[in-house]
Amino acid sequence: MNQTVYPNCHGLRGAITVPGDKSISHRAVMFGAIAEGVTTIEGFLPSEDCLRTVACFRALGVEIVEDGCHLRVVGKGFAGLTEPMEVLDVGNSGTTLRLLLGILAGRPFHATLVGDASIARRPMARVTRPLKEMGATIDGRKDGQYAPLALRGRQLTAHTYASPVASAQVKSALLFAGLQAEGTTTVSEPYVSRDHTEQMLNAFGVELQRNDSHVSISGGQALQAQSINVPGDISSAAFFLVAATLVPNSEVILNNVGVNPTRAGVLNVLKEIGGEWTLKDEQLLGGEPRGNIHVRHAAQLKPFHISGEQIPTLIDEIPVLAVLATQIEGTSVICDAAELKVKETNRIATVISELTKLGARIEETEDGMIIYGGTRLHGGIVQSHGDHRLAMALAVAALIAKEEVMIEDSEAVDVSYPSFFTHLSRLSSR
Ligand code: S3P
Repeated sequence: MNQTVYPNCHGLRGAITVPGDKSISHRAVMFGAIAEGVTTIEGFLPSEDCLRTVACFRALGVEIVEDGCHLRVVGKGFAGLTEPMEVLDVGNSGTTLRLLLGILAGRPFHATLVGDASIARRPMARVTRPLKEMGATIDGRKDGQYAPLALRGRQLTAHTYASPVASAQVKSALLFAGLQAEGTTTVSEPYVSRDHTEQMLNAFGVELQRNDSHVSISGGQALQAQSINVPGDISSAAFFLVAATLVPNSEVILNNVGVNPTRAGVLNVLKEIGGEWTLKDEQLLGGEPRGNIHVRHAAQLKPFHISGEQIPTLIDEIPVLAVLATQIEGTSVICDAAELKVKETNRIATVISELTKLGARIEETEDGMIIYGGTRLHGGIVQSHGDHRLAMALAVAALIAKEEVMIEDSEAVDVSYPSFFTHLSRLSSR
């Protein structure tokens, strides 16, 4: 499908509630499945990625009643998972695959995990290697580095693992494995990545120790079913935060957005460069803060430089931050972000190739990009490359371009934000 987005010259106005957080929705299903009792989930994100997680757990014998954003998961503990009769297909979802590997590593059965062409290119050794060191048997393409993967779970032994990358998927997979291992498992990472797994472990009654970027968990702890309320996804809200900041005369309210500090880097960057947003009606539920964000157009923005520990807090927002930087007078720099190369696409390459088609001036570096801003973008035809966040970032670029932009393969948005274009047209209509 192709979607044409027209320049907006009158402003984005109104209020929307962005859909549920993708990371938390996946975890809510997984935690419900391994807990004992009935977990209810409100605000679940019924997008392609999260529905893959639901389908995988059904194939593992878990009863899940799904009604849009409301889910009921009947958990019977880790022992309630049964050997799947079919291949587990994670589609485009790296979170489903990596976290599932951690859960299945300790189960005494066989499973085969596959995904789409993007998944088959993404590195899995970062998870399979430490899980094998804990005792699981895992094989796959290129010596077990890439999907499809075949796994046989075993009784695991605890591990102390220093992850070379700041990745919540790696950390979470090892915490799930650690819960099933004998002894105490410790995972550390170079910078703190999103901590939704740690928050949810606490909410389900599991004890863990956290110290800077180290997390330790003792095996054998049981999880008790909970009621989970999923906040809106800040990674989805980010498209409208940036769009409202850039389009003159905009004033938008984004309701019930999750603002967990390990995810809120985009808000910090906007504040530092002169963006105009405020957070109202803040609440904390299940360890996850959320609130209503009021954002309006900001005329004077300063270029930004993002690096190091900031990167994991805004890694998924970099495509739309690159669009923002094209509009700011001066040079913005993104570094220490080599992880972008192993996302749904190589986002350094795809962001640069597509924004360049609209006239942006961006230079690729080894671990990020340099954006020469203050460029008036023009219209054109661009490609999503099947990457949901790239498709939405390009739609934001279209709003501030001189002519319309046609986005090819725009259906990629269904991975995380199926109602994106509906919300965009609602905010764009006068
Ligand atoms: C996610 C973690 C991040 C993020 C992804 C979702 C998660 O990936 O980019 O969209 O839910 O744990 P990494 O763990 O690979 O950094």
